[in-house]
Amino acid sequence: KNASPTSGLPLAFHGTVIHSRSLDELEILENCIVIVGTDGKIQALQGNVELDQINSIVSENGYVPDVFPVKFLKRGEFLCPGFVDTHNHAPQWAQRGVGRGISLLDWLNKVTFAHEAKFQDPEYAKRMYASCVTGFLQQGITTASYYGSHHGQATRILADVCFEKGQRALVGKCNMNRNAPDWYRDPSVSDSLHETRELIHHVQKLDPEYHLVKPILTPRFAISCEPELLDGIGAIAREHPDLPIQTHFNEAKQEIEYTRQLFPEFDTEADLYQRYGLLNDRSILAHCIFLHEGEMRRIQELGCGVAHCPIANTTMQDFMVAPVREYLRCGIKVGLGTDSGGGYSSSILDAMKQAFIVSNARQMLTQGRDPALSLYEGFFLATMGGAQVCGLDDRVGNFAVGKDFDALEVHATDLDQPGVISPVEDEDTIQVIFEKFLMTGDDRNIFKVYVSGRSVKV
Ligand code: GUN
Ligand code: FE
Repeated sequence: KNASPTSGLPLAFHGTVIHSRSLDELEILENCIVIVGTDGKIQALQGNVELDQINSIVSENGYVPDVFPVKFLKRGEFLCPGFVDTHNHAPQWAQRGVGRGISLLDWLNKVTFAHEAKFQDPEYAKRMYASCVTGFLQQGITTASYYGSHHGQATRILADVCFEKGQRALVGKCNMNRNAPDWYRDPSVSDSLHETRELIHHVQKLDPEYHLVKPILTPRFAISCEPELLDGIGAIAREHPDLPIQTHFNEAKQEIEYTRQLFPEFDTEADLYQRYGLLNDRSILAHCIFLHEGEMRRIQELGCGVAHCPIANTTMQDFMVAPVREYLRCGIKVGLGTDSGGGYSSSILDAMKQAFIVSNARQMLTQGRDPALSLYEGFFLATMGGAQVCGLDDRVGNFAVGKDFDALEVHATDLDQPGVISPVEDEDTIQVIFEKFLMTGDDRNIFKVYVSGRSVKV
């Protein structure tokens, strides 16, 4: 009954391939042959292959030359890894763009909870999540870390939709039992934990090896969770050492102050979440804007990853610039998040461009101590950095042989599909074409999207 996570057919390309080897090392392979096996994994990757060498490489890999279909990419076309969205609220899909310029806690109470509450209705959830997952795949987001609503059933539907549509996803039931209206919160600690366990069982049945979909523990943030609830989620985290954890962390001054009022026994959010067993190398911490001294070192030592959401950070009331360069300097894993609907855009290209802008601001604010992000660093955050944050860098993030083929076929040209992309000119190097795509392209230039070798953009 379940859709297959792979297409079951091998794939091959010849042309330009671009991916990150590390934060500041971009590899561009020209005349590259890529072979993807029937298991959806990259079987061969070799640059500088002349046309007359292709057949021998095909047969070395166990396929019959001549009849084996190879797709030839033209100038201006290339493959790059799919984008990773490390922080995304699926039930906010229909509220993107609404409620700009108010404080975080007002935005939750006045705009967001009412939208998320609609996911009580499973038919609405099916319809909205189908639109959401299709929309993110359209943007080339091959992996997303999703917060669901607090509803168990709707979140199980979200897991099903990701699996059926072929998106790699971490899916979390949002735990929240206080500081939200009666009509939108978990009625009790035990109910909240029960629904989380139900989601884990559901995904174990749906995708037993977590090939595509994996549950993620998702306490919304400490303001939404009574201490007993945080304790219970910490216990589930210890029981399931394979499952990632996500929460919001030091996002806004107002939020940090209120958290201190609720938990006066802790000096910092790092102390708080660590005490409840929620900070480790599987944690995805969203925003991370205002860290106290020592918190940065702590999250580095514990191996936590940062979901940098520069659009949301600059859409709410306070213009907030996360110290991303410092995180990178400390060796903290960093990826990008759309934070749909805290942010207005569902595009990682947009998140990356906003990351450049806020990193310029940060460079100014620190008198040059924190240099702005380079183009290649931004691309790394959008792909490999995100894979590291999601604990999936052994599976995706770049095109190392043996990884799953999660890829975009980019047509960085305005010929087939007139758009706003800066047109390719005769003298443009591949570096310039790539830069034009990242800075001026959009989903119209993302011709095909593959997850585990399966073509998933409709
Ligand atoms: N903090 C708690 N919930 C949320 C949310 O939905 N979005 C953002 N940006 N911050 C939060
Ligand atoms: Fe968020």
